[in-house]
Order: sequence, then C-alpha cells, then structure tokens
Amino acid sequence: MKIRNICCIGAGYVGGPTMAVIAQKCPEINVTVVDINKERIAAWNDKNVENIPIYEPGLSDIVAEARDRNLFFSTDVDQAIDKADMIFISVNTPTKTYGIGKGMAADLKFIELCARQIARVAKDDKIVVEKSTLPVRTAQALKNILDNTGNGVNYQILSNPEFLAEGTAVDDLMNPDRVLIGGDIDTAEGEEAIQALVDIYAHWVSKEQILTTNVWSSELSKLTANAFLAQRVSSINAMSELCEKTGADVNEVSRAVGMDSRIGSKFLKSSVGFGGSCFQKDILNLVYIAKSFGLDEVADYWHQVIIMNDHQKKRFAAKIVQTLFNTVSGKKIALLGWAFKKDTNDTRESAAIYVADYLLNEQAEIVVYDPKVTEEQIYADLDYLGTRSEKENRERVTVLKDPYKVCDKAHAIAVLTEWDEFMELDWQKVYKAMLKPAFLFDGRRLLDRKTKEEIGFEFYAIGS
Ligand code: NAD
Ligand code: UGA
Repeated sequence: MKIRNICCIGAGYVGGPTMAVIAQKCPEINVTVVDINKERIAAWNDKNVENIPIYEPGLSDIVAEARDRNLFFSTDVDQAIDKADMIFISVNTPTKTYGIGKGMAADLKFIELCARQIARVAKDDKIVVEKSTLPVRTAQALKNILDNTGNGVNYQILSNPEFLAEGTAVDDLMNPDRVLIGGDIDTAEGEEAIQALVDIYAHWVSKEQILTTNVWSSELSKLTANAFLAQRVSSINAMSELCEKTGADVNEVSRAVGMDSRIGSKFLKSSVGFGGSCFQKDILNLVYIAKSFGLDEVADYWHQVIIMNDHQKKRFAAKIVQTLFNTVSGKKIALLGWAFKKDTNDTRESAAIYVADYLLNEQAEIVVYDPKVTEEQIYADLDYLGTRSEKENRERVTVLKDPYKVCDKAHAIAVLTEWDEFMELDWQKVYKAMLKPAFLFDGRRLLDRKTKEEIGFEFYAIGS
C-alpha cells in the first residue's frame, strides 16, 4: 500500500518538526499539518520562515525547503482528514486537572475529539497513527470510537511514539536511535498498515532501526523510555545532595559511574531538576496506570522519581535564601535562563518557574533573561501557578533582553538553563555591576568554579 497523502492533527513541538522531516525525505507524499489554533498555523505559514512558532536548530531550513511543495499547514482539519490515507494524531495529552485521576492521569479529551472527528469525516479506509504519548491500551478506545461512530470504513490503528528531544529535534528525527511501530501483527491488514509506515521511515532510516511490535508494547515502551530517562536524572540529583555534604563532586561521580559500559554516560548530568512537558506528566501517568491495576509497589517506585525532582528544585531555591543570610526579601535575584533546557523556547514545567515562585514567596525581586523565551510567556507561566495575582507577578518580576542589565545591582545570580552564551559572558563586567558579596548559583554545572572565584564571586554549584 502506497501512502500519497498524510494528515497530521496537531502542529505542536512534535507534529510540526516530525512532519517537516517526513515531507523533506518523502517528496512524493503530500503532508498536511492541521491545528485548531489559528495563530499557530499562521505562524507556520509566515512568509519569513524564521517566524515559525517553534525554535529548533535546523528546522526553519527544512520548512523553507518543503513548505508549499509537499508540506502544508492548515486549519481545515476536515478537508485534510478526508484527503489522507494516513492520519497522525499528535495532539497534547496533558495531566488531568479535574475529576478522576486529577493531577496524575493523562487527559485524553483531545485524542477522543480527534477520533470522533475522523470517524465523522472519513469516507474511505484510513490508517490512524498514534504519535502522541498515550496510556497503554488507548488504541483500543480509539478503535472503539472509530468503529462505532464512523461511516462503515475500515481503520487500522498504529502506535508510533516519538522519541525526539527538544533542542535536538531535527537531528533526532534525521538520525533516530530507533523508530518504533506497533500494530495489529496478527492480521494481514494490520501487517500491511505497519509496512506502509515502515516504508515511509525507510526513506532515511535503516531497516534494522525500525522496530515493529504489537500495539500495547509500543504504547508502553514510550512511557517506559521516559521513565528510565527521568529516573537517571533523579538518581544523579539524589547523589548531588550527598556530594554537597561529603566533599565528593557530582561531575566526578557521574563520570566515574558513566564509564561503566553497563551504566553509560548519558543523562547523568546533575541539574536544578528536570523540566519539559513530558517527563513529569508521563511518569505520573505511569504511576496512575500502575495504581489502577492495584500495583502499589510499582506505582510508588516510579513516583519517587517525581518526589526527588520536586525536592531538587526546592532545595536549590532554599539554598539561595539560606546563603543570602536567610533572607531575600527585597533583594534583586537575577535568573539566567527560563527555558527547561537550552536551544528551545519551550518553558513547560521548567525548573525556573518553580525556583522563581519559591523566591517570590520569600519576597525577592526577580529579574529574568532568556535568549529565546518571551516576556509574555514568563508571566503566563507564573500566572498559571496561581500563587499570586497577575498584577503582583508583573510588579515583582522584570524581564529584560540584556543579560548585563539583568545582573546589574543584583544580590545574586542563578543560572537555570544551560545556554552556551552564559559561558561567554564577560563575568568580570557582571561582577563589577553586582552588589557585594556577589553570589553566583550554578544550577546547571555550566560555569567554571575556579575562574569565577578568582573574580571574586561567592560561588555555589549543584553537587559540589
Ligand atoms: P503541543 O501542545 O505543542 O501541540 C499539540 C497541538 O495539538 C496544539 O497546537 C493544539 O492546538 C493541537 N490540538 C489539540 N486538539 C486538537 C484538535 N482536536 N484538532 C486539531 N488540533 C488540536 O504538544 P507537543 O509537545 O507537540 O506534544 C504532542 C504529543 O507528543 C504529546 O502527547 C506529548 O506527550 C508527545 N511528545 C512530545 C514531545 C516533545 O518533545 N514535546 C516528544 C515526544 C512526544
Ligand atoms: C525527553 C526525552 O529525552 C525524549 O526522548 C522524549 O521524546 C521527550 O522527553 C518527550 O517524550 O517529550 P525533552 O523533555 O525534550 O525530551 O528533553 P531532555 O533532553 O530529555 O531533557 C529533559 C529535562 O531533563 C531537561 O530539563 C534537562 O535539562 C534535564 N536533564 C536531562 C538533566 O537535568 N540532566 C540530564 O543529564 C539530562
């Protein structure tokens, strides 16, 4: 079966980059990315390709090449569904904020709306691909809706979770460690659908790296991968606290254990805590699923990863207060970085939000610089917490586009995102403009201690 038209519902951090790469690599396939968010689609269609809504190194070049050739962005969801042979669902699956499973379970309302829309519109057979991260067995619910509310056409459901990380999305998509495709491996129709998707990826990914499994393994592998990755960060962060008490250095510990080939060196970088839209939500979802099967020990085991991460963010903020003679009231604290990691403008669940909130509760004056995050986004993140009024957030938090101005007359600086440019700052100049003693807190182990102490900073870094 040859796929000629693809529709992707959801033009976000996953849908946009993933489809741009498929369109670039498969010029014979028309790819239409649709979204109900008009502004987002307008931004994807912006004449100036630098204005696309998602910042990822290398992405704008790919969009420039494929857009209006075989890559289209549209708000006409019905039309794109109607035309497509294969429909990717790449909508958001946030943690539920209401009702049963509040604060834990994944909210699947957006997924269900997509299924109902596909069922209403489709007049010929479709392959529906789960690209969003979903609880294991969601495919069954999708099939149920499609088969029972549809127009009598046949659906094959595939699970094709996405493993890209933000900031390196293009590289991850171009050179994936593996592509995972789950489908109905027991029927000829299921095998045919799996093969159709394999053929798309085979345009640029070697056959050995394309894994095919049953649907449930595929769905659960995605949650498992994120849980394992986040667990490594929480494990090294747990050690960072012990390092601070004992004179060990977490970078040295991380290097020493990471050279054991059974452990491996990646994802062992201690930090102010992991952020991002997925680690926390996916682990909470895993905990919820385990609990719903009565697997309390399994649930508690994974929940500890989140508990440790919350502790790390709080501990870092508390360290600032404690070091500044137990009060930051009325003191100016400069935050360098707001994004949850470098090379992205995404701030979802960023540790910076929680550190800022903690310091604001201690009556600090916060000034923020991030090279890619907008002022509106920073206020929106703080407003969303609901800790204080929107007015107060705007009075007590200032966002500037110049890192030197942010640090001017500050009592302390906290590095919260590992942007490369922070290493290149003229730290002598920064020091001069600060109040003394000039405190520098490195939440990312980005800066060299020796040179900063030589300048005169009172330097604190996570895990040493
Ligand atoms: P996102 O919020 O950036 O994008 C989702 C988009 O879907 C939004 O623009 C929203 O308007 C749109 N949408 C929602 N309901 C819709 C509907 N009914 N019709 C049309 N459009 C609709 O989310 P994201 O970061 O791209 O994540 C999407 C999924 O991929 C999630 O399940 C997430 O867990 C998973 N994932 C994300 C990443 C990542 O790095 N962000 C990586 C791997 C997997
Ligand atoms: C993560 C996974 O790496 C992707 O494989 C997955 O597809 C994605 O989640 C998802 O499902 O959404 P992402 O959140 O974009 O990707 O970024 P990561 O590089 O994993 O970083 C997550 C957080 O952990 C960041 O705040 C980062 O700073 C932190 N981190 C990462 C550390 O503190 N230490 C490390 O060693 C690695």
